[in-house]
Amino acid sequence: MTTFSIDLLKRQAAEAAVDLIQPGMVVGLGAGSTALKAIECMGERLADGRLHRIVGVPCSGQVAADAQRLGVPLTTLDEHPVIDLTIDGADEVDPQLRVIKGGGGALLREKIVAQASRQEVIIVDEGKLSDRLGTKWVLPVEVIPFGWRTHLDFFTQLGATVNVRTGDRNVWFRTDSGNLILDCNFGPMADPDSLAAVLDARAGVVAHGLFIGLVSQVVVAGVNGVYWMTHAGVR
Ligand code: A5P
Repeated sequence: MTTFSIDLLKRQAAEAAVDLIQPGMVVGLGAGSTALKAIECMGERLADGRLHRIVGVPCSGQVAADAQRLGVPLTTLDEHPVIDLTIDGADEVDPQLRVIKGGGGALLREKIVAQASRQEVIIVDEGKLSDRLGTKWVLPVEVIPFGWRTHLDFFTQLGATVNVRTGDRNVWFRTDSGNLILDCNFGPMADPDSLAAVLDARAGVVAHGLFIGLVSQVVVAGVNGVYWMTHAGVR
């Protein structure tokens, strides 16, 4: 599939999710190229009057800048600790609506926003669907810089091949919170829930990319159209 057609699928998924937004809502603004399509769509609908009186909570500094550029008014979790609806992307989605996120490095804020949301809607093109998480994407784990090397053996013993994420000019990538990301390739995961619990219990890990029990529905755009994955089935 060409970049153009994937872009079109992302836009279709974004449009379908933005249809859920009602006037007066506090909306979580996810990070990444697909979530950006949703912000573009909100900006257009705010400009032409199809949407009004919404405020957005951005999941990263970059998202805040994009939303401002696109005309989506912003707020904070301090002002609005409960979010009505968040629209975010994902790197990999399984049939139980468990997802891997964090390809763009915003996983910590994305997870905080997701857990503050009444509805977390994930938008993806169908290439992100997977029977087993870890088949298509590595698992990002955000760690504080103090003692970061101590996690390498631990993750390796859990079965991962670990890489420290680098950014521009090959320097270590830093998250918006100043932390490092260890990209852990576990391969296809037999039991993502147990792995998430082990990572949640590890001191120094501030977030990992497994979003389990946080996603309300997934909007999937494919060559045959847009459909919704919900906990009650596909529609
Ligand atoms: C950002 O940290 C991520 O969680 C993104 O939502 C995820 O990587 C999907 O990004 P794309 O929509 O660009 O594929």
